[in-house]
This record gives sequence, structure tokens and C-alpha cells, in this order.
Amino acid sequence: MPTPHNSAAHGEVAKTVLMPGDPLRAKFLAETYLEDVQQFNAVRNMLGYTGTYKGKKVSIMGSGMGMPSIGIYCHELFSQYGVEAIIRIGSCGAIREEVHIRDIIIAQGSCTDSNFAHQYELPGTFSAISSFDLLEKAVTLAKAKDVTYHVGNVIASDVFYHADQGSAAKWGSMGCLGVEMESYALFATAAHLNKKALTLLTVSDSLVTHEETTAEEREKTFTAMMEIALEIAE
Ligand code: HPA
Repeated sequence: MPTPHNSAAHGEVAKTVLMPGDPLRAKFLAETYLEDVQQFNAVRNMLGYTGTYKGKKVSIMGSGMGMPSIGIYCHELFSQYGVEAIIRIGSCGAIREEVHIRDIIIAQGSCTDSNFAHQYELPGTFSAISSFDLLEKAVTLAKAKDVTYHVGNVIASDVFYHADQGSAAKWGSMGCLGVEMESYALFATAAHLNKKALTLLTVSDSLVTHEETTAEEREKTFTAMMEIALEIAE
């Protein structure tokens, strides 16, 4: 049934959805990696597609930036469309010295400066974690690829241009590997609705070393991340 944000009919979305932040990236990825592609959503230009990868039905849809945005789309996909697993495929900034641009981060857990979990009225702090099943599969696949990967915590922030320029370093000192803006809401929503979620990130910049990379080099890591996500999809 269509929602205010998604015009897909029931059955048009696969059991696993890959979610990049950028809807045009979702379009590019669907056209590049999937066969028999059908667009199921264009509401607010948040493009969503379903196709097949090696015979498996897979969907790819943009999440937008930030936790309110991914929170809306993942809630509807899980609760209205029978989606069982969402794999975020995004980018992040490195906040520890050993994490370099072009590396992949497989988010085991997610911290946040957001109040997203306040809605659950828990008597404490909710630790948002990925599905161990998906995490284990991702790590096994990453090992077989020619990429450097890290598994650990990340910080999902509500703020890109933070007034406290030292905030990322504080999270880094607690072992967080990278900063992005969506994983906590995805993991919390999946937990609330008893579904599976995973976040895979390519490191696009470093808040520690300020190193840079070429678009071509970034593409190689992105392809590896994408292949991992597509292989995991059930
Ligand atoms: N901050 C937050 N989100 C991000 C960043 C960053 O530096 N890089 C990519 N996504």
C-alpha cells in the first residue's frame, strides 16, 4: 500500500533493500548492477528500484541524509512493504588515525548525539547494533576482497557542521571509527520492528589526516562495498 513517502505497491519491493544516501546513486547502482529493473518510487525524488542480481530479487532506494530521513523510509519499508533487511551503503569521515580514505568500515554498532531512541521510552541508553548474521557475512566477504576494512563502532551525528570542532575526536577516543549521519536510526528502527540491518561505509574523507583521494580510487572501494551488499542480499 502506498505511503505518504513511497508510491510502491505491495510486492514491488524486495526482501532486502540496499540504501545509499543519494537517490541518484540508487538509480545509477540499479542500472549498473541489476537486471530487469523497475522503478517503484519517485515521491520527493527519493528514487527506488527493484531488479535482480544473479537471479535474486533486490531493491535499491535512496535514504536521504540524516536520521529523520532514513528513519521515515526504513520504517515504511520494514512495516508496510515486508522488507526483512536493509543494508545502508554510505560514506563516512574517518575519526581515527588507523582509518584511511578508501577503507571500508563495517559498522558493528552505532553511537549517536541524536535523541532518536527517546521515542521508545526506555529506562536508559539504547545501544544500536547491526544484525550479527549480516555482519558476519559482510566480514567473511570483505576478507576475500583486496580492500582494507575495519569492523567496529561508528558515530551517527545529527550535525555535519558541528560548533564543537573537537566532537569527532572525542568519539574517536572511545573507539568510534567514522562519523556519518544515519546508522543509529536504521539500527534502532530495525530493532524496534524485529528486522535486520547493516551499515557498510566507504571512507570519503578524514577528519584526522585531511587526506584526499581521486574519484577513480574511491570507485574501487565503492565497488567492493556494493558487491558485498549484493552478495549478502537474500
Ligand atoms: N561527517 C558526517 N557525515 C559524513 C562525513 C563527515 O565528515 N563524511 C561523509 N559522511
